Amino acid sequence: MCGIVGIISQNRFSVKDSLQRLKKLEYRGYDSFGYCYDGHLKKQVGEVVIPQNGDLTNKIICHTRWATHGGVTDKNAHPHLSCDKKIAIVHNGIIENYQELRSTLEKTGHIFTSETDSEVIAHYFEEKLKSMDIRSAIVEFFKDIHGEFAIVMTIQGDNNLYAIKRDSPLVLGIGNDTYYLASDIYAFSDATNNCIFFENDEFAIVSDSDYQFYDKKGNKITKTIQQLGWTQHTEDKQDYDHFMIKEIMEEPTVIERLIFSLKNEQKENLNKFLEIIRSSKKITFVAAGSSYHASLFGVYLFHKVGVNAQTLIASEFDNYVGLDDQSVVIAISQSGETMDVIEALKYAKNKGARILSIVNVPYSTIQRMSEVSLNIYAGQEVCVAATKTFINQVVLLMYIAHLLGLDVDVESLSNHIENLFKTKDKIIQIAEEIYKVDDLYILGRGIGYPIAREIALKIKEICYIHAEGMMGGELKHGTIALIEEGTVVISIMPKSNPAIYSNTKEVEARGAKIIRITNDISTTGEINVMHIKVEDETIFCILSTIVGQLLTYYVALKRGNPIDKPRNLAKSVTVK
Ligand code: F6R
Repeated sequence: MCGIVGIISQNRFSVKDSLQRLKKLEYRGYDSFGYCYDGHLKKQVGEVVIPQNGDLTNKIICHTRWATHGGVTDKNAHPHLSCDKKIAIVHNGIIENYQELRSTLEKTGHIFTSETDSEVIAHYFEEKLKSMDIRSAIVEFFKDIHGEFAIVMTIQGDNNLYAIKRDSPLVLGIGNDTYYLASDIYAFSDATNNCIFFENDEFAIVSDSDYQFYDKKGNKITKTIQQLGWTQHTEDKQDYDHFMIKEIMEEPTVIERLIFSLKNEQKENLNKFLEIIRSSKKITFVAAGSSYHASLFGVYLFHKVGVNAQTLIASEFDNYVGLDDQSVVIAISQSGETMDVIEALKYAKNKGARILSIVNVPYSTIQRMSEVSLNIYAGQEVCVAATKTFINQVVLLMYIAHLLGLDVDVESLSNHIENLFKTKDKIIQIAEEIYKVDDLYILGRGIGYPIAREIALKIKEICYIHAEGMMGGELKHGTIALIEEGTVVISIMPKSNPAIYSNTKEVEARGAKIIRITNDISTTGEINVMHIKVEDETIFCILSTIVGQLLTYYVALKRGNPIDKPRNLAKSVTVK
């Protein structure tokens, strides 16, 4: 995962500004950070700290880390240096054959100071540059290295930045007098709309006044500058304590923005999307985490309108899904950069499948791999946990299902959410009652099943409480053994699905403490009932998700957890 930034300019720019740019990539990892300019090296565990000095430079490389190889220590933080300290590199990805390379380099006298796979890159180039020029060394690098990498490198006494890419994302931002190399456009999109995305097995040599791209054999290549039709504004927390609650509160607004776009600027793409769905025999979704739960929601709705659909988690896609040139695959991904989804799409492309996608981050790899891509228009989501982006994913799927025949009042949703926010105190009360538990079970059936799983995921990642989201019908096949006096079970109970009532009673009979989320007015009067006054089951389930998001937030708040940046996680999972 990790975020990398390299900046080079004819004019001196502030180190502080560079670190602010790096901070925008913290969603890619925040175990440690580091940077290097004019012989200064800083490496530190924890989130990016913006330096308060007024230092200026005209070349810098920066890194924010999500640890893969080697613990979270200052030494394992990037940049990594060669033995003579002349070469400094920042890396996103995994060097799979690093152990072999490291022992070869150690035999020739190289001394390593970290436990990372990445450090091998600096020593590799130090060794190669003894006998060849840098361009040839990079060509050799492409041959010798197995794995994924986006690398930015500086060499002391040399005026360039070197940028090398295979699989991990890398983009060159082209400003007036400044070039930016970064994991994604967030790092520079406030400064320029012009950029060039690296494709696999390409590298670039970037000076303060020019750049040149090469293929992996070292041949010069000409790339077209892409104009971003979208500029990123920096999100701040406004008056909220956390991005998570701010982003939940934004849900009515982002839903309206999405629906508006589907009727206007996204209309043509939407029609193409629908056409491909209508003409296909079967739709196969692929996604990870919350986006996978959204895809389950999509499968349910597509079945309702007679579209044959299935979904599979991206990391096991090639093992469990058979595809051919008649297949249509829809990837769902907030970031558009999840490595497992990208790998699944490569597999699908190899089988001849057509690729569609639903993403949030424009110009992302998954969007660029797709024949047609729809954007969920949720804006930047800063909190690691998906909230507004999950909601807009399911809203988009509901909108598509509606156009394919589902009877649902999509336009009413944001009003319902505003009304739900008025019942926040009730959710806080439930949070106060359950925040000390160690285990939680969330039951759902039908369209309530993906919602149960999504709520469980939120509770695990933000509250650090073990939570299982289950099919109500599956409970009896084992898990019910874990229910004892006082075990908390949250049940998603749309009136339209009476079987969930029986499942709920079954755990209640064994002493479980039930929190019912329901649209059935006959359940009023019971303790711990979250009553959502809406008949439609699709809308009801979206609203239940928001109850789960708010409950997660208030439980985590009571537990004193670091809500926006939970331990061990990163927002964009760019390793397998
Ligand atoms: C959970 C969460 C993750 C992501 C997953 C997929 O709150 O955010 O589970 O949903 O990593 O990410 P995207 O949607 O970017 O492919």
